[in-house]
Amino acid sequence: MSTLAAFFYTVLFRTVRVLIAPRAGTNPTWWKQVAEADRLDPSPETIVNQFQASAAELAAGLHRDNYVGGVDVQARLGDSRDLPLEARTVGGVITSPPYCTRIDYGVATRPELAILGAGERDLKELRDQMVGTPTMTGKRGTAEQWGATATAFLDGVAAHASKASAGYYTNYFRQYYAGMWDSLAELHRVMKEGAPAVLVVQDNYYKDLHNDTAKILGEMAIALGFDRAERHDFPVIRNRASMNPRTRQYRNKASAVESILVLR
Ligand SMILES: C[S@@+](CC[C@H](N)C(=O)[O-])C[C@H]1O[C@@H](n2cnc3c(N)ncnc32)[C@H](O)[C@@H]1O
Repeated sequence: MSTLAAFFYTVLFRTVRVLIAPRAGTNPTWWKQVAEADRLDPSPETIVNQFQASAAELAAGLHRDNYVGGVDVQARLGDSRDLPLEARTVGGVITSPPYCTRIDYGVATRPELAILGAGERDLKELRDQMVGTPTMTGKRGTAEQWGATATAFLDGVAAHASKASAGYYTNYFRQYYAGMWDSLAELHRVMKEGAPAVLVVQDNYYKDLHNDTAKILGEMAIALGFDRAERHDFPVIRNRASMNPRTRQYRNKASAVESILVLR
């Protein structure tokens, strides 16, 4: 796709996001299919005006940042658990892997997928391929390999008295960490000796149990052959858990920590 076509696709995504805003629910990552009676019916004029406004806004953003083209960039698509790259060829990685918070990245991008012509079948298939999908795919991995922190957390979840802890939630966390284990194994395979991989990760709580994702991924990385896992923490002031009054039942302070994990 040309850069110009890519630009106008982005404009189209933005246009649709603005026009459907009145149908957004309280959860910004969950798009429901609306009932026939609730369908929006913007006039062609409204659509064209928003398209022009979005194009102007995005173009202004590019110019404001003094964007310099002319750098040779290639975008390729792949699965983090099966990278289409040769071993020891990558000089650096910056990545923001899925959060372990049951965000459904397929549903979160439903508007863009609709624009690209994806149907419900494509959406389901995509959701099932996501690391951290809240849909159950049956992948459980080998938790014994993942380190002491993962083991303690998973044992705590499995033994928790609250509903579905031993079933759905234990399976969800195992599925997430199984996907991350395979992804870290791939990173280790493709990276050059000593090259840095920088990951942004957030911790969270399952009821009263700390799910220290940065610590668990750091231990996994060492088990997979990385030499070092350095961690830098930044407190997150507002996140969804801190807005949910029910989390107060288990903790009186619902804050999250965002960590930068540097693996070498
Ligand atoms: C925390 S978000 C990061 C979003 C990114 N920073 C951006 O601006 O688009 C995690 C992303 O990982 C993607 N993802 C989930 N499973 C993946 C997989 N197996 N391989 C590659 N990406 C995956 C999700 O679609 C989601 O966009």
